[in-house]
Amino acid sequence: MVKCMCGIIGCLLDNKRAAPVLLNCVKKLEYRGYDSVGIATSSSDIKIKKDSGKIDDVHKNLDLDDLPGDMGIAHVRWATHGLPTKENAHPQTDCKDNIAVVHNGIIENYKELKDQLIGEGHQFKSETDTEVIPHLIEKYVEMGNNLESATRLAIGDIKGSYAIAAICRDEPNKVVGARKESPLIVGKGENEYFIASDAPAILEHTNKVIYLEDHEMVVLSEEGIEIKDIKGNVIKKEIFTIDWTPDMAEKGGYAHFMLKEIHEQPEAVKKTLLGESEIKKMVKKFPDFNRVCFVACGTSFHASLIGKYLFENLVGIPTDVSLASEFEYSADTLDEKTLVIFITQSGETADTLKALRLVNHMAKTLAIVNVLGSTVTREAEYVIYTRAGPEIGVAATKTYVSQLACIYLLAIYMSGKMELMEKLQNIPEYMETALQKEELIKEIAQKYKDSRDFFFIGRGFSFPTAMEGALKLKEITYIHGEGYAAGELKHGPLALIDEGVPVVAVTPPGKSHDKTLSNVEEVKARGAHVIGLGSSEDGVLKYEVHDMIEFEDEIDEMFSSMPYVIPLQLLSYYISVMKSIDPDKPKNLAKCVTVE
Ligand code: G6P
Repeated sequence: MVKCMCGIIGCLLDNKRAAPVLLNCVKKLEYRGYDSVGIATSSSDIKIKKDSGKIDDVHKNLDLDDLPGDMGIAHVRWATHGLPTKENAHPQTDCKDNIAVVHNGIIENYKELKDQLIGEGHQFKSETDTEVIPHLIEKYVEMGNNLESATRLAIGDIKGSYAIAAICRDEPNKVVGARKESPLIVGKGENEYFIASDAPAILEHTNKVIYLEDHEMVVLSEEGIEIKDIKGNVIKKEIFTIDWTPDMAEKGGYAHFMLKEIHEQPEAVKKTLLGESEIKKMVKKFPDFNRVCFVACGTSFHASLIGKYLFENLVGIPTDVSLASEFEYSADTLDEKTLVIFITQSGETADTLKALRLVNHMAKTLAIVNVLGSTVTREAEYVIYTRAGPEIGVAATKTYVSQLACIYLLAIYMSGKMELMEKLQNIPEYMETALQKEELIKEIAQKYKDSRDFFFIGRGFSFPTAMEGALKLKEITYIHGEGYAAGELKHGPLALIDEGVPVVAVTPPGKSHDKTLSNVEEVKARGAHVIGLGSSEDGVLKYEVHDMIEFEDEIDEMFSSMPYVIPLQLLSYYISVMKSIDPDKPKNLAKCVTVE
């Protein structure tokens, strides 16, 4: 089966060609997937251009924006199974190319539906699960339904997850959308209407959005926007105004989004810290908890690990951390006295959502999220927003440090140790100095860019930082990077240390410092080249390591996670660029993982 984790767009404009607008919007969704792209517009009939490849390359060959009509749909695809081919690219159509559909999600019962439709005479052109949708709609249209009710009947037959947009040649001024378990928003401009997988995609056109819930449908027509439930009853929905501006989703003179986002980190933390009073109010309302459990994936998981050290050290409360994809296998012991904190920048990660749905009603749930109105924010009991702004680079950077800022605020307020606030407020300044090390980091990147393996080591608060450094390296340089608790090295990985293997030692001042230093000696004795991150006053570390990245001496290990991660992000970024990889769009990865 060709599963899909993709971005979709639909629009109905007022006497303006839709294709250039669709192309522009779909480019903003490219971070969701980038192995194929397609656009369909409708005027006298449905015209489609689509192919496999990155959007710019496909556009160069096909002139994707050269299609007639003031309404249409578009798609960018990221296949998890099956080949990214022209046939499998969306839009997918029915037998007569009268109906076109774009889809994000997975149709679980597509095989039986496909067999049934083939039995009824339908002809399929792709290997996608999606293609059953236009054929189902075709079947119901032929039975006398209009596009809207045919789509409603079609999704009634489907098992699985979907955000879809559909158009039909015979109803040239209508775009129908529907969602279940995949994100879909509606945008309301001046006489122009949009549906999209997320808000940044349409920000250039409108900042007024409506968030669709599962089992809701939307019809865009000349009369405006109509949201309906699955039975066809009209529902009134709140219109949100997003305060993100279109230029926040542009590169602003930087070579890549990732570099821009790395540089935006001090500001993102400052803004997130402004949310202090909301957190203070929230904590006041908390019942007594006797346990905290963090649940997250990827980089958000690493933020959660820092959360464990902080909560156990500051709040003195037993704290577990669970990978969201592993959560269902150990969820039984939660109760009302447990606070489960879900960390997710997108608010849409399928594994995290699934874990949240398992926990709701068993324990108290709190979500730390970057995207306003995303699914997780609507399902968790308490919500804290990080204020990082839109993050486009697939590898998380500014959302990570913003999550950390929220976790620190939460831990400080829950512990009542307000004297630590000053230390937290100083962090953005330390992050600024870390950014000034860029030239040095470029030199280090040049030196080690051809290494086959990298090790990142640290203890305590520095262990998750080491893991995050290794994850960044894997994600955007394709070099094998291992983040290890420094004390565990001798229980295995030390066997992999040979002459010249780079080991990045995260060694801020504090309780773990001396022991990590002993581990530095251990790896040096086996020929490793050590890159040390530590205090500018740390003469011993400077003496031991081959390359040194210095920080202010005041940054102790408890407050090191935000400034110390910056050189690690920059190191991976520059190695990626030196290897001619696009760090914004690493192969096989997507920013928002809406499949389990
Ligand atoms: C994907 C992204 C990562 C992100 C992870 C979790 O793998 O590429 O950057 O850390 O998902 O995403 P979330 O939105 O839940 O934080």
